[in-house]
Amino acid sequence: MSKTAQLKLDDKDYVLPVIVGTEGEKAIDTRTLRATSGYIAYDQGYGNTGSCESSITYLDGENGVLRHRGYPIEQLAMHSNFVETAYLVIYGELPTVAQRRAFSDRLRQNAAIEPQMQAIFQGYPKDAPPMAMLSSMVASLAAHYPQLATNDFEKDLQNFDLAAGMAISKIRTIGAMIYRYQRGLAYIPPKDIPFCDNLLHMMFSELYQDYVAVPEVARALNTLLLLHADHEQNCSTSTVRMVGSSAANLFTSLSAGICALSGPLHGGANTAVMHMLQSIHDEHDDGTRFIAAAKSGTKSNRLMGFGHPVYRNFDPRAKIIGKACDEVLQKLGINDPLLEIAKNLEQAALKDDYFISRKLYPNVDFYSGIIMRALGVPVNMFTVIFAIGRSPGWIANWREVAANPKGRIYRPRQVYSGPVKRDYVPLAQRG
Ligand code: SDX
Repeated sequence: MSKTAQLKLDDKDYVLPVIVGTEGEKAIDTRTLRATSGYIAYDQGYGNTGSCESSITYLDGENGVLRHRGYPIEQLAMHSNFVETAYLVIYGELPTVAQRRAFSDRLRQNAAIEPQMQAIFQGYPKDAPPMAMLSSMVASLAAHYPQLATNDFEKDLQNFDLAAGMAISKIRTIGAMIYRYQRGLAYIPPKDIPFCDNLLHMMFSELYQDYVAVPEVARALNTLLLLHADHEQNCSTSTVRMVGSSAANLFTSLSAGICALSGPLHGGANTAVMHMLQSIHDEHDDGTRFIAAAKSGTKSNRLMGFGHPVYRNFDPRAKIIGKACDEVLQKLGINDPLLEIAKNLEQAALKDDYFISRKLYPNVDFYSGIIMRALGVPVNMFTVIFAIGRSPGWIANWREVAANPKGRIYRPRQVYSGPVKRDYVPLAQRG
């Protein structure tokens, strides 16, 4: 393997170092390129550019591999749970019994939303977009807990454990509050119960009667959140790192990540999948017409939940979610016609050369909506659930940025393509 890259530009030779990751990924280190050659590298959308070295998640898109701190996602989904995987993603190791207990205690002790923050909800329209409410509520954590959000890396890192536990726990509680606020229902305070059971309790309990999740439902939600815990430098995670690189505090950076996740090409895809399946169902189509339209290549007809910026193979999360989907619907005795349509679409697409040649396979969003619907989560809350799941990954990435002694503020360059120098024309002469 080359240790350097040779570049010839304008009859000059340049030598650039090569960086090799622990999984053998190779990168040309172009940090000196502009200073030495006057050229920058250009990579619209950063699909071929590494913005950082990170030890959190390894993703091999060609082979459908996803590991968190070295542990395969399949093993974590089988043997772990969301809270333990959140600890692993953030701190780098599976927790000991004592560490697990301390982390769980931090989540439980910081689950409630104080009355002053509850009052903010009164300012939202009942039909406000859930992700708009979530991002602004999470940003307001910096207003309510300024001692944890000083915008001074050293101070914020000293309080990191509390801020991280508070963020994961309160993002979950705020999600439940959004669900209830939209229905005119009162805030249900958290109980001293496991993380996912608490989310379901705070969403579905009534003041006079507690909702107690059946084990299958709590387990399915646990698996769903675990599978979303982190995913390398995706759009929202890179946004958290970008904002965090300015020394913005954790809460502010997480709020920016939530804004990025709200886009339909990213975290909003699970909502788009359900709308797609529902419209196919309502048109009594078996998916054939939709597949034909999806092959037109227009962004508006895309098969939502299919394709991925990195995976050129099956998204390993999609396989796990697809299996969990079957299990939980069977255990709950739910016969969801949208599941059959999804399976028909998957089978048809996986035999169609248009999808095969473009290496388009189901991604994490293809089946997640069907599970959430079975758990009683409404479609407009799907991306909020995704955000709850992704919070540990965002937090771990913010911490890598904040703790990096050689860190720099993210400041990409550009290739200017606008008008060249021209003189000002007074208004009277512009006609
Ligand atoms: C997530 O980055 C992450 O890790 C994200 C995520 C995470 O956990 O954080 O995994 C979560 O965002 C999953 C992706 C959710 N989005 C969707 O399901 C929306 C539908 N998918 C597409 O919009 C698309 O596949 C993207 C945006 C996901 C990826 O787009 P790319 O890699 O930029 O692919 P592309 O736009 O360059 O398309 C390549 C070709 C094009 O056709 P040609 O121009 O070659 O003829 O594939 C076609 C596209 O038209 N194509 C699709 C398609 N996706 C790509 N055609 C039909 N249906 C699709 N879904």
